[in-house]
Amino acid sequence: PDPAPFTVRMPVPRVLRPESTRGDTDLYVVTAKKARVEILPGTRTEVLTYAGMFPGPTLRVRAGRTAVVRHTNDLDMGTVVHVHGGCTPADSDGFPTDTLAPGRTRDYTYPNEQRAATLWYHDHAHHMEAEHVYRGLAGFYLVEDPAEAGLRLPDGDHDIPIMLRDARFDAKARLVFALDDFANRRTILANGKARPYFPVAARRYRLRFVNAANLRTFTLRLRHGGKTTEVAQIASDGGLLAAPAAVRSWRMTPGERVEVVVDFARFPVGSQVFLEDASGGQVLRFDVTRGGKDTSRVPDRLATLPALPKATGRRTFVLGYDRARRRFLINGRQFDDGRVDTEIKRGTTEIWTVTNDGSSSAIPHNFHPHLIQFRILDRNGRPPAPGEAGVKDTVSVGRGETVRLQATVGPYTGRYVLHCHMIDHASSGMMAQLRVVP
Ligand code: C2O
Ligand code: CU
Repeated sequence: PDPAPFTVRMPVPRVLRPESTRGDTDLYVVTAKKARVEILPGTRTEVLTYAGMFPGPTLRVRAGRTAVVRHTNDLDMGTVVHVHGGCTPADSDGFPTDTLAPGRTRDYTYPNEQRAATLWYHDHAHHMEAEHVYRGLAGFYLVEDPAEAGLRLPDGDHDIPIMLRDARFDAKARLVFALDDFANRRTILANGKARPYFPVAARRYRLRFVNAANLRTFTLRLRHGGKTTEVAQIASDGGLLAAPAAVRSWRMTPGERVEVVVDFARFPVGSQVFLEDASGGQVLRFDVTRGGKDTSRVPDRLATLPALPKATGRRTFVLGYDRARRRFLINGRQFDDGRVDTEIKRGTTEIWTVTNDGSSSAIPHNFHPHLIQFRILDRNGRPPAPGEAGVKDTVSVGRGETVRLQATVGPYTGRYVLHCHMIDHASSGMMAQLRVVP
């Protein structure tokens, strides 16, 4: 039974303060541990957390300043942290078998040499990543830079990260996990609460969405008085779009981020504005409770997208399924820690063709390489929609679809992974090893 809707307020995960600051480096300290938190109103659920929080604390870092995150694993199984979308040296990127044993502490170093973007961090321990993320090991990692700060987009209390995911509870409000249990994960959570409300002033807000669900795609829209409201999409995975895109709905597969600016001044004080998902119904209610002074704006030009260097190579990735063995595959193979699947030179740009082999796999997948930002050249031969035309790190590839990407490899060498971000698939081996060489 679904809990009574709109009885609890959506929390905004607390921003973690650095433990110390030295020169251009900030040290953060996080312990992964179990906690009992209120997800469904009036009852507590045991979850896995970063710092006791569900979702974890938000890291807000500045481009060009190094963040060292000292993680302690107080759980009873191995964990490894990955900053999704981060341009991170290999030894801190969270290679799936590079796990931190229970009781141990280690530092992850993030140079943050990248543009402002809404990233997120989550567990990546191989075979366990799906269950660990499902049980709570996920949080926001927001990179800020001066170019973005100069735009006067809504900020401070008007810049709201919202982590969406689904979950399944038993009668005692315990989280139930089973791999590929898609149809049963019916309760949608926004920042860890089932159908919360969120009070807003009649002014602009920047809403940063991440789809942190294991398998579910969200198709979102804002509804007021039975009508859909247009919003300005300003960013995708890798930061600001070149220009805002007016959208009436936006689709997010697991791992993807979309940022929109909503002007609640369009609704009278006292209005209720609903965030709705095409298949899950009402997710979150915004209550316009008061007037608001607003000096923010959404400029017509947001950013100059990073130059696209000339592509010097091509490669193909086929997302498929082995019916006989019932396993998801990339280029016909399952992940093997000891095998390099793709070798690529650091800093190079290539054109990648990613195909979901619809004949063998009846379901959609998505594609996420670590260390690599890309642009979508075309989807089934057609140019990307404006909201998909910016910098990306995760892309949906529906059944039978082919997406062409222009991908630029980051500046670090070592071993990374690429995988399907329907994370249950990654957990069962739909992942490949990427070696970046000098
Ligand atoms: Cu969200 Cu391999 O990552
Ligand atoms: Cu998949």
